[in-house]
Order: sequence, then structure tokens, then C-alpha cells
Amino acid sequence: MLPYTLPGVSRYAEAVVISDTWPRCGRVTLKPFTETLTEEEWRRFYECFRDPEIAEWNGSRPLKMPVWLFKRVVMGEVARGDRLGFGILDEKGEWLGTVELYELSRNEATLGILIGAKDRWGQGYGTDAVRAVLAYAFTKMGLHKVKLRTYRHNLRAQRAFEKAGFRFVSSPPPPLRFNFGFTPKPEFVPMEITKEQWEGVA
Ligand SMILES: CC(C)(COP(=O)(O)OP(=O)(O)OC[C@H]1O[C@@H](n2cnc3c(N)ncnc32)[C@H](O)[C@@H]1OP(=O)(O)O)[C@@H](O)C(=O)NCCC(=O)NCCS
Repeated sequence: MLPYTLPGVSRYAEAVVISDTWPRCGRVTLKPFTETLTEEEWRRFYECFRDPEIAEWNGSRPLKMPVWLFKRVVMGEVARGDRLGFGILDEKGEWLGTVELYELSRNEATLGILIGAKDRWGQGYGTDAVRAVLAYAFTKMGLHKVKLRTYRHNLRAQRAFEKAGFRFVSSPPPPLRFNFGFTPKPEFVPMEITKEQWEGVA
């Protein structure tokens, strides 16, 4: 473990510790949820899931549960091992968001990612986090394919996924239905990357 104390950032009461065994790519290091998170990291983690705009991009609802229950739910999922989550840390060790592999099976997983610090969007952190988790999925976990779903109008996310090597896969056309003035639900597009495709871009 390399001790990494943030210089001149006094709001961090606790030293941020970064291990050289954690997945990393470019300016990003991934901190496994199985590690002890600092109170500041828990706060950022929780706030990210409470943000209405982020929830909307993610196709979910902003979290309403109190932070103590949120911690309990996350730790329960970590203990069950049915999803693998990481905090996304920047070059200074600051928590930017989360990237997760869920719907885990022997060969496949689904990827989800959120960068909670909106002022850090569009600066390459998301792409690096996706690259780091893909390298982990294919070389450490032995997966053969990683999939995801994103909104068709989420062009920023699609661009980040494409830069990391994801490709669009064809999905069946939406069912034909009459529209009685209802706003149609936003459409998801599926993307995926196989180990062979990843080896071609990594
Ligand atoms: C999606 C997300 C993880 C991407 O991370 P990020 O750090 O912002 O992404 P990056 O900077 O690595 O890449 C974004 C790319 O999209 C481009 N982009 C930004 N807005 C865009 C738009 N409206 N249309 C097209 N491309 C756009 C950026 O220019 C960049 O491409 P470039 O490097 O070729 O210039 C992050 O924006 C996020 O958390 N968004 C909210 C939650 C979300 O959408 N999660 C995904 C759910 S599936």
C-alpha cells in the first residue's frame, strides 16, 4: 500500500491510501468497495446516487434512503459477491464516482458507471475508468464479454464507451404501438465488448 496524503486539501480528515494493486488506467485508479472507504468517500458515493440529474442519465430514481441504510445495502451486496464495485479516484486520490460490474455470471457481466462530480465530465476520466475495469474483467476475472445499456440520447456516455472499445449491438425494433398522447419512454441501446475485441484495442 502506498500512503497518499492529499497535499493542501484540509477537508480530508483522513489520509487517502492508494494500493498499487488496484486497477488503474491513465489518471484513474479504481478503489474496490471491499476496501474501507473514508467518511468523505462514503459521502460522495451517497450524494452521487441522490442527484436527480445523474439518476435521470442512469435511468434510475434519486436515492431517498438515509446514508446509514445506504452503507448497509452496499456492504450487503459486497458480502454477497453478486456485483463488483469500485470507486473512481482521480490523480490526486479524490473520489469522482463509481464503476460496477453486475449481473455477474461465469463468462459475462454488465457494466454501470457514474461520475458524480459533474464539473469533471468530458475530461477523459470516464473512459479511463471503463478501460481500467475492462482490463480487470478480462485479465483477472476471466470474463469473455462485458455488456451495458445506455439511453440512446446519452451521447457522452456512448462516446466514452466507444473510446474504450465497446461496440453497438443490434437490438430488436421497439414494438409498434398506438400513441394516445403519452410521451414515449426513452430508448436504451445495448453495447458490448468481447475479450477478443478488447485485446484488439487494449
Ligand atoms: C457517462 C460518463 C461516465 C462519461 O464519463 P466522462 O468522463 O464524462 O467521459 P469522457 O470525458 O471520458 O468521454 C466523453 C466523450 O464524449 C464527448 N461528449 C461530451 N458530450 C457529448 C455530446 N453531447 N455528444 C457527443 N459527444 C459528447 C466528449 O467530448 C468525450 O469525447 P472526446 O474525448 O472524443 O472529446 C459521465 O459523463 C457520467 O457519469 N455521466 C452521468 C451518468 C451516466 O450517464 N452514466 C452512464 C449510464 S449508462
